[in-house]
Amino acid sequence: MIADEAILDAKLLVVDDEPANVELLEEMLADAGYRNVRSLTDPRRVEEAYREWRPHLVALDLNMPHMDGFQVMEQLRAIDGEDGYLPVLVLTAYQDREIRYRALRAGARDFLTKPFDLMEVLLRIRSLLEVRLLYDQTLSLNAQLTESNADLERFAFVASHDLQEPLRSVTRYVQMLDKRYSDALDEKGVGYIGRAVEGTKRMQALILSLLDYARVGSRGEMFTLTDVDAVVDGAASDLSARIDEVGAEVTRDALPRILADQGQLAQLLQNLIGNAIKFCGDDAPTVHVSAEQQDDAWVFAVADNGIGIEPEYGEQIFEIFQRLHGRGSYDGTGIGLAICRKIVQRHGGRIWVDSQPGEGATFRFTIPRR
Ligand SMILES: Nc1ncnc2c1ncn2[C@@H]1O[C@H](COP(=O)(O)OP(=O)(O)OP(=O)(O)O)[C@@H](O)[C@H]1O
Ligand SMILES: [Mg+2]
Repeated sequence: MIADEAILDAKLLVVDDEPANVELLEEMLADAGYRNVRSLTDPRRVEEAYREWRPHLVALDLNMPHMDGFQVMEQLRAIDGEDGYLPVLVLTAYQDREIRYRALRAGARDFLTKPFDLMEVLLRIRSLLEVRLLYDQTLSLNAQLTESNADLERFAFVASHDLQEPLRSVTRYVQMLDKRYSDALDEKGVGYIGRAVEGTKRMQALILSLLDYARVGSRGEMFTLTDVDAVVDGAASDLSARIDEVGAEVTRDALPRILADQGQLAQLLQNLIGNAIKFCGDDAPTVHVSAEQQDDAWVFAVADNGIGIEPEYGEQIFEIFQRLHGRGSYDGTGIGLAICRKIVQRHGGRIWVDSQPGEGATFRFTIPRR
């Protein structure tokens, strides 16, 4: 919530051509503890004052010489842009019902009727300020979040990028040891080198997938009309070696064309289909891709007949590096689904899994229709 102090510190601008009204409001507000009240009796000076002082709330008379309140509101709107929050409280006479409607339609937040009722003035101003300050808070939290996300992405990118070089050199020297000095070592030593080689390979895989992850946000392409049929067929063909190896069957319904980043959609489906084949039980894996049209989104589903997932892990698996199995049973770095989630979010959708252990898993994601 918003603290009382913040409300009393808020900047209020009173605009009324009638000095008596201005004085009255100023006095009321000062008595109530407001510390930042300014006033204007000439509507032609509001635009500049608004631009310079950025008040949190403007109490605005409608009926004024030179310019009426509606024209002033238009000026303020132009400053903030169409999506901005117009912090205007209009002051109207008790009889002006039609004008009040018009003012509210024009974007005013609320109105105060003249002659002023002290209690009403204070309550309405307070509640509007609360909304305004909450609005500001949301904007700034959002900006912070976006910034820290971008920071994280930059960090992941730089870290993984810069790690590649030293890793390459470690890999090279370990491989040279392996090639040239194996004969000079006993069995134990050869075993150690083998493990070091494995470790460098694994680290390389981790770094590459971390780079992939960091690139989802920063290296995205434009959204174009994308044929999901072709994307699924392409993903299956990229996975064909593994599909043949395990005797998997990948099928699909007729799928729609959607607006998407084609490369990322391919990556998403390849990760999901790849998982569906990898986490199989004793039976040969079968994977089916389908889509269902909802009011405002397409819901895509990738269903398999594999080992399934305990529902309690249904969220966790989308976190980076979260895996439910040791490397002994299924290989991987635990980044695939984190990438999937980032891709879906970049498209404005969400992703989740429906599954029970031993009964296969169905991963679903939405893509908004535009
Ligand atoms: N279709 C599935 N059936 C059962 N479990 C799954 C399925 N897909 C994912 N999981 C579980 O979720 C975990 C996270 O999946 P994710 O794709 O992120 O990582 P991974 O496949 O282990 O590694 P990577 O994708 O980086 O190669 C997996 O380790 C697995 O435990
Ligand atoms: Mg995976």
